[in-house]
Order: sequence, then C-alpha cells, then structure tokens
Amino acid sequence: MLSWLRNNFTTDLAIDLGTSSTQIGFPAEGIRLDEPSVVAVARGQKGVLGKGAAVGKLAHQMLGRAPDGIRVVRPIAHGVISDFELTEAMLRYFMQKATGRTRGFRPRVVIAIPGCITAVEKRAVINSAERAGAGQIWLIEKSRAAGVGAGLPVSEPVASMVCDIGGGTAEVAVMSLGDIVASRSIRTAGDEMDQAIVKYLRRRYSLRIGEQSAELLKIAIGSAAPLDHELSHEVSGLDTASGIPRKAMITSEEIREALYEPLEEIVDCIRGTIERCQPELIADLADTGLVLTGGVAMLRGIDRHLNQYLGIPVRIAESPRTTVTRGVMICLDHLEQWQDRLDNGS
Ligand SMILES: Nc1ncnc2c1ncn2[C@@H]1O[C@H](COP(=O)(O)OP(=O)(O)O)[C@@H](O)[C@H]1O
Ligand SMILES: [Mg+2]
Repeated sequence: MLSWLRNNFTTDLAIDLGTSSTQIGFPAEGIRLDEPSVVAVARGQKGVLGKGAAVGKLAHQMLGRAPDGIRVVRPIAHGVISDFELTEAMLRYFMQKATGRTRGFRPRVVIAIPGCITAVEKRAVINSAERAGAGQIWLIEKSRAAGVGAGLPVSEPVASMVCDIGGGTAEVAVMSLGDIVASRSIRTAGDEMDQAIVKYLRRRYSLRIGEQSAELLKIAIGSAAPLDHELSHEVSGLDTASGIPRKAMITSEEIREALYEPLEEIVDCIRGTIERCQPELIADLADTGLVLTGGVAMLRGIDRHLNQYLGIPVRIAESPRTTVTRGVMICLDHLEQWQDRLDNGS
C-alpha cells in the first residue's frame, strides 16, 4: 500500500541534466528516464518538432543526418544551458514522460550541475526547471552526487575522491566530513575525445568523419592503456583529397594515440586537485584512491592509465553512467539532512 501510494503520488525527482544524456530518478524506485539531451526543431521556427515530441531518443537518431530544414540541437553544452528555451522544452517533456503526468503537479526536484558553472548559469538551470513545471528546486554538484552514489564514506573524517567524466565536463572532488575540500571541473571530457578522433583521422588518413562516427569508434575500440588483444574497426568518411567517400580500418592503438591529449588534461586536473589538499588528506587518498564515474569511466583501461599517472588506487564505480543520478536520489531521500548543503539559488 505504502509503495503504491509512493508510486502514484511521489513528487520528488532526481535529475542529472547532462551534456550527453538526461536521467530522471525517483528515490523509491530507481531511474525512470535515461535519454539523450537532444532536441529537434524546424529551422526558423520556435518550438520543438513533432508537436514537442522530437526530443531525446527520437531527436538523437536525427543528429548529423537531418535535412536542411531541421536543426538538431544539444541544448546543454559542457554541462551548462546553451539554449534556454529548448532546455525548458526538453526538461518539460522528460519530466512529463518520467512521471506520466502533464498538469497540476509541481514536484520537488534536485538537479546535478557541474562545479564550474557561474551564478548566472545556475539561475538558468533553476528558471528552466521552474518553467518546465518543477516546484521546489535544489542544485547539487555532480561530483558530490557521484561520491554519494558511488557509496564513498563522504561524511566520515577520511578523504575520498571521485572523478565524473561525462560528455561535456570532467569533475573531480575530494570529500571529507560531508563537504568538498578540494574540487576542479574542466570542459574536457567525452565530446573532446570524439573531436580528437575526428582531427586525428583527418590528419593521419585525410579522412573526414562526423562526431557521431567518432563516438562510435571510441566506444567500439577506444582505450586509455594497451589491451591484451588490440582491436580494429572500419569507419566510413570522406576522402578530403579526392572528395569521394572511402572506408578505412582503424586500430585501437591509433585511437589511443588520438585520445592521449584529452586524457592528459584530465590527469592534470585530477593531479591539481590532489595537490591542493592538506598532507593528511593526501595520505588518506593514497589508501582510499579515486573512484571513476560517468560514461567515460567505461573507456577500456582508463583505470590502469590513471593509476599509472597518479600513483594511487583507481576503481570504476558500478554502472558508472548512472552514479550521479543515484547519488541525487539518495540526497532526495535524506533531504532534511542534506538540505543545508544544497543550493537553492538564493
Ligand atoms: N563504453 C564507453 N567507452 C568510452 N566512452 C563512453 C562509453 N560509453 C559512453 N561513453 C561516453 O561517455 C560520455 C557520456 O557520459 P555521460 O555520463 O552519460 O555524460 P553526461 O553526464 O555529460 O550526460 C559520452 O562522451 C560517451 O561517448
Ligand atoms: Mg553523467
């Protein structure tokens, strides 16, 4: 009965408004929605295509393939809102889809945001969520939510460190006694890796491929450290010399070379965060190590690569793509306890 009541009347939503994907979870139930943060609009017109339904999975299929009259937009760039109206439309659609309700309800929501966003950008997230139908709104740093979601002992007097690498940002935080003691956030993550692959193939093979193909290559054969069995994958693109479509066989060694630079920036970001900590905390980190979350945590060998360059233990969280959302769900479940540490925009 209690769970029936909760299912039907629950009005608390945990939202990870990500550059690549938006996830919505209900504390009692789990993640109800997980869709690409993409919207399709008719060029020169306001509003979303298909009476507001060309959002998420549907719009994602059109990315890189839409005819001239249609614009496929990712309204979140590097974790911040780049198109306010489309973010609002997307969020409204997702909230309605996740809850199955359209009007007259104003859920309490907690939204995960990058650590590097400005006060104006925070306000934009709050306004978007308000206009999309949210009642009370709190914001939480993605890295804090990731730590909670990964089950780190964030409230204990021992340092623990998490790094969430998504599409648009990499977020690092060291936490102790429930607070973030050092953190950094950079705008180099999965999308930059895709762009690095595009550039590499153009330079090395005079082959022009789209970012979607680059992402597929990264997921199919990408790695950060040598593999026991190196892989290869065929990709189609445009030969920049002849202007004719052509296929090429790409190896995992090549993709690794392409990914080296963005990975180096992430290593520097983590190292810089560690260096800012007090010696006692650094001593803790040598034992407790680093936990990786976010989609890029699934890159082959990234744990070995970071361990080699940072010299501390590195572990990949379970189901890393959803760790942040699960962390937000836990905070919502204990809202009274967490409220003081969340940001409500005032
Ligand atoms: N198996 C994988 N290997 C490497 N990268 C991956 C893999 N799966 C997803 N990604 C990348 O993770 C990023 C998305 O991560 P996610 O946490 O969903 O992002 P965000 O929180 O920014 O929406 C994308 O760049 C995607 O290409
Ligand atoms: Mg994420």
